[in-house]
This record gives sequence, C-alpha cells and structure tokens, in this order.
Amino acid sequence: MKIFAANWKLQKNPEETRKFFADFLKLDLAANSEVIFFPSSICLEAAGNSLKNSKIKFGSQNSYFEGAGAFTGETSAKSVKDVGGTYILLGHSERRSLFGETNELIAKKIKFVQSLDMIPMFCIGETLQERESGKTLQVLSEQIKEGLKLADLSKKIIVAYEPVWAIGTGKVATPDQVKETHEQVYQELKKIYSSTDVPILYGGSVKADNAGQLIQIPHVSGFLVGGASLEPSSFHAICKA
Ligand code: PGA
Repeated sequence: MKIFAANWKLQKNPEETRKFFADFLKLDLAANSEVIFFPSSICLEAAGNSLKNSKIKFGSQNSYFEGAGAFTGETSAKSVKDVGGTYILLGHSERRSLFGETNELIAKKIKFVQSLDMIPMFCIGETLQERESGKTLQVLSEQIKEGLKLADLSKKIIVAYEPVWAIGTGKVATPDQVKETHEQVYQELKKIYSSTDVPILYGGSVKADNAGQLIQIPHVSGFLVGGASLEPSSFHAICKA
C-alpha cells in the first residue's frame, strides 16, 4: 500500500475545492493506494461533501490538543472528524518555523488526535543549516523521540519526512539522500515501535517526474506533496507513480 497525501496549505476556497474534486474523482486510482487531502480548514466541509462516496480520505493541516473551549483561532480535530475527516497533519515545518510549534506541543496534539481514533500524519525534517553541519540524524531523532513522547503506540500513525530545504524550493533531495535518511528514520522508529510498519512518506518538491524514482527507495511508503497537488492532473500523475 502506497500513500499519497496532498498538503494544500493556504490555497483554494470552498468553490475551488469542489471543482478540484469534481475533476479529480473522474480519474482512476490504483486500488492499493491511499490518497489523502489536507485542504485549509475552511474547505474541510466542502471536501467532506465531495468525498462522501469515495475512498479518498481527508483531514486538516493542524488541530489543537483540546476538542472545544476558549481557544480563539484554533481548529478542533473533533469537528474535523464530524465533517468526515480521518487524518490530521501535525508538526509541518511551516507550523514549526512560522507559528513556533515545539516538539512538546506537537506531542500533545498527537496524543489528542489519537484519542479520537483519528490518524496523525507527523512531520519531521532538518533545515539546510542542520544538514550542512552534520546534525540531520540528531535533529530527526529528537523530533521523533519528543514528538512521540505521549503517543499511543498501539494506534496508527504516519510519519512524513520533509527536509525543510526541499519544501517549496524545487530542490528535491537526491535519491541517495532520501535512501540514507529514510533508513535512519526507520531505525529511529524501530527504537520506539516494536512492530516496524509505521509508514514513512517523503515530502519536499515531489513532482510527477521525480516520483517514479523516489517511490522505489526502501522505506519510502509514499509522498506528502504541496505545490504539485494543486492541479488534479499533476497530483494524479504522482499517485500513479
Ligand atoms: P512542496 O511542499 O511539495 O511544495 O515542496 C511539501 C509540503 O510542504 O508538504
């Protein structure tokens, strides 16, 4: 089973969301693939309505670690579930760098999402500076250990490895870098999970023309795609990788 996830970030309004799915649902998908969309929160209900009778899953790009209360501006995972969402993207590098999310906060969010029987897609990744100073493994190991501190290890989770320097830059990691780092992430997860079937997605400038090569790499269970997921045809081409 390969997993193809679309991170729409702050793109598309509800009407554009409906239009995208009207087109995307006409395209065929491999039976052994899981396709997941992360629209912006305001478009989740539109996504839920469009995807009601399909096997395509969706969820939000963030959520708070409480389901309701005096938390102005936050997104409730409970409400995401109410409109049919299954997944929550957590710890994306833009959440970490632009909105100050820490490993500690992400750990609480993972715990809450799992308590609702929803599935966290937990993002990790090193900056260019960290990679160039030889700290990649140390950073990823810390993000994994701290982020999963409160996780229910019996419940499903997906890890998305996204080198920060490859996100939205057109600078995709080389197959050798992906191979080496996914092996390291796999080994780190193995220290925590007794079974080793946690899927590890690669993200960062994935396009139709590099997806075919990257998907062959051991411990690459699929992709988390930003820019190339905004058009039905380009994301579909990646799903067919
Ligand atoms: P990108 O974004 O594919 O545009 O590099 C990936 C992501 O941020 O998840």
